[in-house]
Amino acid sequence: MKKKWALITGASAGIGAEFASQLAAKGWSLVLIARRTDKLSEIKRMLIKKHQINCHALSIDLSKVKANQEIFNFCQENDIHISMLVNNAGYGIPGDIEATDWKTLQDMIQVMLSSLVELCHLFYPFMKRCHEGQIINVASIAGLMPAKAARTLYGSIKSFVINFTQSLHLEARDFNVHITALCPGFTYTEFHDVNGTRNLVKKVPKNYGWMLLMWFHKD
Ligand SMILES: NC(=O)c1ccc[n+]([C@@H]2O[C@H](COP(=O)([O-])OP(=O)(O)OC[C@H]3O[C@@H](n4cnc5c(N)ncnc54)[C@H](OP(=O)(O)O)[C@@H]3O)[C@@H](O)[C@H]2O)c1
Repeated sequence: MKKKWALITGASAGIGAEFASQLAAKGWSLVLIARRTDKLSEIKRMLIKKHQINCHALSIDLSKVKANQEIFNFCQENDIHISMLVNNAGYGIPGDIEATDWKTLQDMIQVMLSSLVELCHLFYPFMKRCHEGQIINVASIAGLMPAKAARTLYGSIKSFVINFTQSLHLEARDFNVHITALCPGFTYTEFHDVNGTRNLVKKVPKNYGWMLLMWFHKD
């Protein structure tokens, strides 16, 4: 039987690496995206060894405007038809807006918002034509909560992701393509090292881990 392909961004750590591991265990072929070549190569090697799957690891920086087209071209050139897209890459940045330089904010918008939309725009049409596909956009519970001071972009971007996902789901549902926003709460990953909240998260009980899944299936 021909194996289906899933593409996962931010697959070198945390939630993305977990998606890769669970999909590989179900026999999916994988295209893994992140910047760190060593981490990606290790995950690829381990998944191939454990599950004998097809797997490509592409070291790509999603803050680069041409990154998404590069990923799409790679799939076209290698005759890879993506049936599941997991838009997961993301991070938080510490500090208020004035203390953060524009390039840092611009990169965050590119990685977590523009890239997510562009990858949907590139891969959704094929899913629609096939009447089969899934897109999972990793948002956050922060996108469902009232705004708070500082870290102004993070919650705003995640609110956008949830709203965009709802809209796209309504477009897609008649074509058997399912678009889902995943809204994790605190999850133990490298995320809190990157955004500088590791000390705060250490105080959260280890068994406090939950996720709110929002499934926008046919009603
Ligand atoms: N952990 C939480 O508590 C939590 C809660 C709510 C939502 N989330 C969301 O869950 C998603 C995954 O986060 P996580 O907790 O798994 O964090 P993580 O462990 O830090 O993983 C983040 C992933 O994103 C990749 N990434 C970051 N910048 C990138 C770039 N410019 N280009 C390509 N890849 C990039 C990282 O890979 P490289 O560094 O190798 O590029 C890494 O694979 C994010 O969207 C985050 O907002 C997390």
